[in-house]
Amino acid sequence: MIAATSSVDATRELAAAVAELVRPGDVIVLAGDLGAGKTAFAQGFGACLGVEEPITSPTFTLVSQYRGGRLPLYHLDVYRLEALDEVADLGLVELLDEGAVTLIEWGDTIAAALPTDFLEISLTLGDGDDDRVLTFASVGPRWGARRRALATVLGPWLVTDGAEEGTC
Ligand SMILES: Nc1ncnc2c1ncn2[C@@H]1O[C@H](COP(=O)(O)OP(=O)(O)OP(=O)(O)O)[C@@H](O)[C@H]1O
Ligand SMILES: [Mg+2]
Repeated sequence: MIAATSSVDATRELAAAVAELVRPGDVIVLAGDLGAGKTAFAQGFGACLGVEEPITSPTFTLVSQYRGGRLPLYHLDVYRLEALDEVADLGLVELLDEGAVTLIEWGDTIAAALPTDFLEISLTLGDGDDDRVLTFASVGPRWGARRRALATVLGPWLVTDGAEEGTC
């Protein structure tokens, strides 16, 4: 599934639409280069959950926790991690046990340490300065089962719904 946005606000709105589908224990990996819009996604996502605090980049803190919303939100940025051992120190598994929702910026770089079930969203720059392309991939059954629901909420931004992939 591929979606496109033409402003940071549109990326935040798209993220809020994804957050409508989220359940306790969900993990979302945000992939993409510096400035692609991963933190912007986290901001719109958190706002939909009801987080009122400003969501900022956790590049130096590695993990930020927001408890004010309808589910606890953990926002990780693993850009600065140099080894998978350091990922173990984050206690990712314990976080997931709490029934929180976890967003992981640069999560694709720690694939070996991730659970087997997550939604990966890859953000890339588009043609114009404010254009972004977001590619959605469900890994495992949790998000696989929500594929149609995801296509529905992403409707306004979809470039292709991936129907050719044969989901019935
Ligand atoms: N369509 C868009 N979607 C998201 N961000 C956009 C868009 N158009 C422009 N921007 C700008 O791109 C920047 C995205 O920054 P953001 O911090 O979200 O990126 P990031 O992927 O988290 O980067 P980093 O890897 O450094 O954490 C912001 O300055 C934002 O205003
Ligand atoms: Mg960021």
